[in-house]
Amino acid sequence: MKENEHKTIYPVFESMEPRGAKERLLAQRGVTLWFTGLSGSGKSTVAIALERYLSSHGHLCRILDGDNVRCGINSDLGFSEHDRRENIRRIAEVCKLFTSTGIITLAAFVSPTRELRRMAAEIIGREDFVEIYVSTPLEECERRDVKGLYARARRGEISDFTGISAPFEAPDAPDMEIDTTHTDVGECVRLIMDKLAPRIAPADGKD
Ligand code: ADX
Repeated sequence: MKENEHKTIYPVFESMEPRGAKERLLAQRGVTLWFTGLSGSGKSTVAIALERYLSSHGHLCRILDGDNVRCGINSDLGFSEHDRRENIRRIAEVCKLFTSTGIITLAAFVSPTRELRRMAAEIIGREDFVEIYVSTPLEECERRDVKGLYARARRGEISDFTGISAPFEAPDAPDMEIDTTHTDVGECVRLIMDKLAPRIAPADGKD
């Protein structure tokens, strides 16, 4: 694209069906639940269980996680600071589209810094962004080592590995915190649903 070419592109929002109409169609309100935590902390596992629960109660959800995003739209990105930022930026833009379609969007990404999560919240919109810190400690994630990546990182075969050779900053004030060391997945779903149920209940009235 040539410089300034984007200035000739005008959004056509006015002719599009408003978010409220989509939410009425789905009988739910859209939101993004943003799961952050170390690799192996249980983010995707909890998101999958939550999706099952929500689906069985008539809600439409979409999970975004490393497996479906880093193999697809973000397959050109690695784990440098620059690439992680671009990874989260694109994901947040996609979350915004799903959320404004009325879909309950479950985003499970390490998103290791406060700055990355702040950017995501700003793109999605603070009012649509619920931060869930999966605080399972490094020792437990490393003990599980489901993908064998911690062992490889310890051997120096993977550089910039979060928790080993790259930082993870815990959120200061997450909306929720869950540690999957002592809380089983069913209990995690119950705790999240306590908070989420009023947030996704259909709104009355107009758009
Ligand atoms: S993020 O930092 O950019 O948010 P993302 O959640 O997309 O990370 O991907 C993390 C997943 O990629 C991990 O769960 C792990 O399976 C894999 N991975 C591969 N290399 C790294 C690395 N250097 N640091 C962290 N995770 C990695």
